[in-house]
Amino acid sequence: MISKKVEEALNGQINAELYSAYLYLSMESYFRSLNLSGFAKWMRAQTQEEMMHAMKIYNFINARGGRVTLKAVEGPPTKWESPLAVFEAVYAHEQKVTGLIDELVNLAIEEKDHAANTFLQWFVNEQVEEEDSADQVVQKLKMIKNDPDGLSLVDRELGQRVFTPPAAAEGGA
Ligand SMILES: [Fe+2]
Ligand SMILES: [Fe+2]
Repeated sequence: MISKKVEEALNGQINAELYSAYLYLSMESYFRSLNLSGFAKWMRAQTQEEMMHAMKIYNFINARGGRVTLKAVEGPPTKWESPLAVFEAVYAHEQKVTGLIDELVNLAIEEKDHAANTFLQWFVNEQVEEEDSADQVVQKLKMIKNDPDGLSLVDRELGQRVFTPPAAAEGGA
């Protein structure tokens, strides 16, 4: 059985993951307005991943006999100054989420909730990847500055990304 404190905090994290999905979907729309379809595709995959994160927590709360309660999701920004500004925002956002995950782990330890702690380790590892992949794009965009040829190369590269839906046990259904 899950403690009230852990249940509440995990419900908060569902909201944070849904906000992440909303933010990246908004970024997708921004890239579509610039006709950067590779960047847009990358953002779509990122959105799907964040939805998967939310569902993973949703399933965990239920499996532990808790209750999921959904709250309003804040509206994301809709405009950025440049592709670089977008990816700097992605990087900053993922760093913030890492902080939230770390706080959740601290709470699970405080509450002696070993199941939640083990469950959250997946997210700890995931955040390492999330920060790294955002930072890699930031570095690339800094390198090419505003060169249109460079931008279209990065666009093509980011367009290679595909979202692989997880198995049901992984939070897929
Ligand atoms: Fe996430
Ligand atoms: Fe993320």
